[in-house]
Amino acid sequence: MEFNFSEKVAVITGAARGIGQAIAISLAECGARVVILDMNEEGANSTKNAILEKGGEAWVYQADVTDMGRIKGIIDDIHSKLGSVDILVNNAGIVSPKPFLETSEKDWDLIMAVNLKGVYSTCFAVLPVMIEQKYGKIVNIASIAGKKGGGFFGNTLYGTSKAGVIALTKGLAREAGKFGINVNAICPGPIETSMLNGLDEENRKRILSGVPLGKFGKPQDIANMVVFLASDLASHVTGEITDVDGGIMRDN
Ligand SMILES: NC(=O)c1ccc[n+]([C@@H]2O[C@H](COP(=O)([O-])OP(=O)(O)OC[C@H]3O[C@@H](n4cnc5c(N)ncnc54)[C@H](O)[C@@H]3O)[C@@H](O)[C@H]2O)c1
Repeated sequence: MEFNFSEKVAVITGAARGIGQAIAISLAECGARVVILDMNEEGANSTKNAILEKGGEAWVYQADVTDMGRIKGIIDDIHSKLGSVDILVNNAGIVSPKPFLETSEKDWDLIMAVNLKGVYSTCFAVLPVMIEQKYGKIVNIASIAGKKGGGFFGNTLYGTSKAGVIALTKGLAREAGKFGINVNAICPGPIETSMLNGLDEENRKRILSGVPLGKFGKPQDIANMVVFLASDLASHVTGEITDVDGGIMRDN
């Protein structure tokens, strides 16, 4: 069975590196026309080049997902240039390891702005286009921290922001279903990206001891689930919050 996204336009936030980069490349490999939206223009261009080298099509927009005006302008631009916006993957996110009492109002505002308002902002801009098309796939990258209330390398604020993403996913799935729009979320467990770089050996071992599959995930593991959820094979799946975590949540 093949995944075929030819003629589909897919917007992926935070695709300059890590999980978002794997998602962008995977969707492009399946034929999607990929739009990379990231603050990091250099990284975004390297993702774009990787796609072009494989014979795919990609565009870059340098933007902060918290800037609603700019996001709306970008989505309108993509719509008018490429003719549709079929897939939106909300992947941009930041993490903070700070214990609760060491956080500040600024920390709260930043993490909620990027991780939660960022998802609101892109969904808000894309939804009218998808409603008009009567077709759309939205996949939000939350985290098992949103179910557990933080933990591992994400603190309480991070977990709170991701819990918001989970609720937004379920609510939007309910509201947008009648327009042929599927909205789902993925909750990754620990995945080998720069987010794990700060962990020392002792902590890596401690975390791994709680993973039934005994390994950290790879960005590709998340990309594979995105490909499925963004495809028509998942056309009857919406409002689903899917763990891709090596089994960690089975004991939670
Ligand atoms: N790595 C993990 O173990 C893990 C686990 C659970 C969930 N997640 C989630 O997966 C997503 C991707 O994580 P990753 O490990 O690839 O992270 P990463 O830090 O490697 O990549 C995040 C990307 O988002 C971009 N970004 C950050 N803030 C932005 C903003 N305001 N506007 C636009 N772009 C912005 C960055 O430039 C970067 O390219 C995040 O939402 C993260 O919370 C990761």
